[in-house]
Amino acid sequence: MRIYLFAFIFFCFKLTLAQTKINIQIPETTTTISKHIYGHFAEHLGRCIYDGIYVGENSEIPNLNGVRIDIIEALKQLKIPNLRWPGGCFADYYHWRDGIGPKDKRPSIVNIWWGGESEDNSFGTHDFLNLCEELGTEPFISANIGTGSVRDVMDWIQYTNHDGKSPMSELRKKNGREAPWNVKFWGVGNETWGCGGLMTAEFYANRFRLYSSFMTNRQNSNNIYRVAAGAYGENYNWTEVLLKNIPKKLIEAISLHYYTSASGVIGAGKNPTGSAINFSPKDYFMTIKSALKIEEIIKNHIKIMDKYDKDQKIDLVVDEWGSWFGEEVGTKPRFLYQQNTMRDAIIAGVTLNIFNNHARRVKMANLAQTVNVLQAIILTEGKKIILTPTYHVMKLYSVHQNAELLNLKFDSPIYKYKLESLKALNASASKDKSGNINISLVNIDNKKSHEVLFQLSDLDIKDVRINIISSEKINDHNDFKNNDLVKSVSFTNFEYNSGNLDLEIPPHSLMLIKLISDRNKL
Ligand code: AHR
Repeated sequence: MRIYLFAFIFFCFKLTLAQTKINIQIPETTTTISKHIYGHFAEHLGRCIYDGIYVGENSEIPNLNGVRIDIIEALKQLKIPNLRWPGGCFADYYHWRDGIGPKDKRPSIVNIWWGGESEDNSFGTHDFLNLCEELGTEPFISANIGTGSVRDVMDWIQYTNHDGKSPMSELRKKNGREAPWNVKFWGVGNETWGCGGLMTAEFYANRFRLYSSFMTNRQNSNNIYRVAAGAYGENYNWTEVLLKNIPKKLIEAISLHYYTSASGVIGAGKNPTGSAINFSPKDYFMTIKSALKIEEIIKNHIKIMDKYDKDQKIDLVVDEWGSWFGEEVGTKPRFLYQQNTMRDAIIAGVTLNIFNNHARRVKMANLAQTVNVLQAIILTEGKKIILTPTYHVMKLYSVHQNAELLNLKFDSPIYKYKLESLKALNASASKDKSGNINISLVNIDNKKSHEVLFQLSDLDIKDVRINIISSEKINDHNDFKNNDLVKSVSFTNFEYNSGNLDLEIPPHSLMLIKLISDRNKL
């Protein structure tokens, strides 16, 4: 009798759930989601490099040339397409020559912006570029234009890229590396409106012209991709002034930085407070609102880019994004160590969906940061590592890399907090090289499930496979005692009949829906 009663209540509940119908459409013009949207960022900050990625050759922790093997393996699984280094704010006081040659002869550097500690420069250009090679990822170097000269940058490029005979290529060879690494991606300074020199947009535009003119591989064949240090958030004037004043032949991309927090806009020097783990329903709502705001910001920067660059030669590179909360209690100030919960997974999910949906201009992005800093994908403590909820999102979403963007048409139900509301469902879709369609669907609503009906009768679908990242509580996270609480698991509670895929996405969760087809009509 009880069972019938439960079944009846469940049926009535299903009836009251409004169903959201989602249709998949091909956009008018084909857009490939650049794999570089799934890039990462490792700065000399806190325990990201030292006591994070790099433990040194003599460490008891298994390592390859000083880099933790467990981290190498975890990163390989994500197929990370590019890795940005050495900063961030650190980049504009980093002198690359201090990080080459015998390690015991290298001078130290004081990390003035991040905690003021001395670093021994044991992780330098060779260490970084060899790591990228090992990972099969493209390096993205932020050049120092704050305290470094044009010549320093030219020499660095010659050191990493020149295959002929030159003073810098000879020095590289002397330091044990014969072949050049051919680094393509170069940032021309970082946050030059702030920690990178507090410049005006006009001053930086001129400085960019100067540095960029000399950032070349060799005469008449420049395959270097120069990224201008762009705006933070809604500073549209910065983008406007740069694009008005920089000749197109000198620039391949302009960047954008944006961090998500419960308190709204932040940036270098304006660290937010508020715990990464203990937050209220209001904090949760405000954080997701802040994450979703990036869409409006991207659209507005793109509008300006469309005005100055009609033929879309210049890319938008969001080379710093992610959550920024108060530092974990008991950790060093300015080391920006924060835990990572299901809330961070939602932030990553919606942000990556937004990047995918704007892949026409957004060609690259870098999550801040890889290990032990801000929205890290990996946390370390001694010999142990944790793969965070954000790691699992990056892994699920990696199927979108270099896939063809598809459009999703739907009217989202509403997620309310007091008098404010947001769209509860957020999604993007792409078709991969084998014709399979991958849909990443996020339910940001922390109270309600939402029923979704995908209308797929136009497609020949052989099989449907769904993975979900979900948790009982929104602040669930993995820690050094339980590394497995939040992860991606297979989801089978769906119905697929006559071209309709019906499922209910639980509160605060993400799904990756794979539609497997051998005769795709799209
Ligand atoms: O990612 C941390 C810091 O945030 C970077 O160093 C800086 O570029 C930004 O303000």
